[in-house]
Parts: sequence; C-alpha cells; structure tokens
Amino acid sequence: MQDKFIVLYNSKTGFTRRYGELIGRALDCPALPLADAPASLSPYEAVVFGSRLHAGTLDGWKKARKLLARRGAKQLVVFATGAMPNEAQAQIRKVWAQNLTPAERDAVPHFYLQAGLCYEKMGGGDRAMMKFAAWAMTRKKAKTPEDKAFQSAISHSYDISDPKYIQPVVDCLRELGQGADTGFFRKS
Ligand SMILES: Cc1cc2nc3c(=O)[nH]c(=O)nc-3n(C[C@H](O)[C@H](O)[C@H](O)COP(=O)(O)O)c2cc1C
Repeated sequence: MQDKFIVLYNSKTGFTRRYGELIGRALDCPALPLADAPASLSPYEAVVFGSRLHAGTLDGWKKARKLLARRGAKQLVVFATGAMPNEAQAQIRKVWAQNLTPAERDAVPHFYLQAGLCYEKMGGGDRAMMKFAAWAMTRKKAKTPEDKAFQSAISHSYDISDPKYIQPVVDCLRELGQGADTGFFRKS
C-alpha cells in the first residue's frame, strides 16, 4: 500500500533527524534525509520537511521548496528545530516571518520544536560561528536578561528535545490525511 506521507529532513547534529524519525514512526511512514528523497513525491498526500534554524534562517529551505515542487509535492508541512525554548514565541514568530512568504505562512502548516545544541557533533564552521557569538556577547556592555540567558545557554551542549513535541505535527498530518487541504502546490 502506498504511504500517505513522507518525512524529509536536513540534520547536522541529529536533533532534526530524531524528530523526523519519531514523526515517521508515529505516522507509520518513511523518514529520510532530504538528499535521499524519491524522484517523485506526487503519490504522497503530504510531504513533511524538517530542518534546523541557523542564524535565524530555516537551513536549506529555499533549495528544498524548489526541489519539493519539482518532484510533485502536493501539500507541505514544515518543522524547524532550534536551541531556543518553545516559549520564545516572539522570536519564533519572527523566524517564520523571515523564512516563509505570507502565502506560505497561510498554506504551509509550520511548527517549531525545541531541540538544543550539540558541540560534540557540530562541524568546524558552525563551532566557529558559535565561538564568535560567545565572544560578541563578552564584548557587549549593557546585557539584557535575554543576552545573559543566551550567553549562558551557548556556553555548553544541552538537550531540551522531547518526543512529546512532535504531537502537533502528527495531529496536523492526521487531519490532512482525512482530507483537509491547505492547497500548497496544488493546482486547482
Ligand atoms: C551556527 C549556529 C547557528 C544557530 N542558530 C540558531 C538560531 O538562530 N535559532 C535557534 O533556535 N537555534 C539556532 N541554532 C541551534 C540549532 O538550530 C539546533 O542545535 C538544531 O536543533 C540543530 O539541528 P540538527 O541537530 O538537526 O543539525 C544554531 C546552531 C548553530 C551551530
């Protein structure tokens, strides 16, 4: 039987892969790195794309949306993972405003899943970026409470991910599977 959904993810240190695989397991559908996406996505009712936040951008989204459209994805659902907590609502709204067009924000259900930071698995370029961010913080004179929290958070690896955070994504896909249609990529 054809799977209804497929989860495709980009992941450098494993948080997004773990969430992607959990979503795949909950929906009994495949979960693969985006690089291994099948040539045609048209058989799926919805395609889930997951990636990390990287200096405020949804890593790889611009390339991914072109690839997914080219391969016939009908309906998209997006999730982002990051180091900030789910409670950082204002920052999360800003991230979506900067990464999705107004049409995408309407048509593509999108979710933020708090994850963490893993210096042990981070690449050299990313580690250098984090080092620079830490140095910039030490140089900042009048630190706000948010600056201080950020400075303390980025000084070490931490994991604030939890399988329970996939639930809204899973619920959304179950609804889509029952015929809800937000119309992304679908030609009427
Ligand atoms: C250079 C760099 C920039 C980052 N920028 C952000 C950011 O803007 N917002 C955020 O919440 N997390 C940020 N993070 C944290 C990652 O998004 C987080 O660790 C993510 O879950 C990693 O996903 P992965 O393990 O699938 O690669 C950043 C991490 C690095 C290394």
